[in-house]
Amino acid sequence: MLAGSLPLASGPASSGDAETGRALARIWCAQCHVVALDQERATDVGPPFTEIANDPTKSNVSMTAWLTDPHPPMLTLSLSKKQIGDLVAYIKTLKAN
Ligand code: HEC
Repeated sequence: MLAGSLPLASGPASSGDAETGRALARIWCAQCHVVALDQERATDVGPPFTEIANDPTKSNVSMTAWLTDPHPPMLTLSLSKKQIGDLVAYIKTLKAN
């Protein structure tokens, strides 16, 4: 059974802290993304996080890669590995099922 053996996902699941991720998202991401279900003011610059979470083409690995090296129009945010892990963990909590 090789299912789930992704190159960057080896070793113990490096599960980020979704609570910290949510706080980070509100500070750094909300200007362009709808980052939370209860977010009232929004722009449509970037896709809502719920949409990203439910997009099967966006995995933990691809999101981590994106956040490590984002490209325009997204700002280059100098996020630490820990912060990226927390953000990805948070986005995952928005997945519908
Ligand atoms: C300056 C506006 C801006 C900010 C700030 C921003 N984003 Fe984005 N983001 C975008 C845009 C626009 C896209 C769509 C880019 C595309 O599809 O080419 C995007 C796409 C994404 C994607 C999907 C990448 C993919 O694989 O297609 C993720 C994940 C993401 N953003 C996460 C974040 C996170 C986490 C933060 C906060 C740390 C953040 N963004 C902050 C504008 C922004």
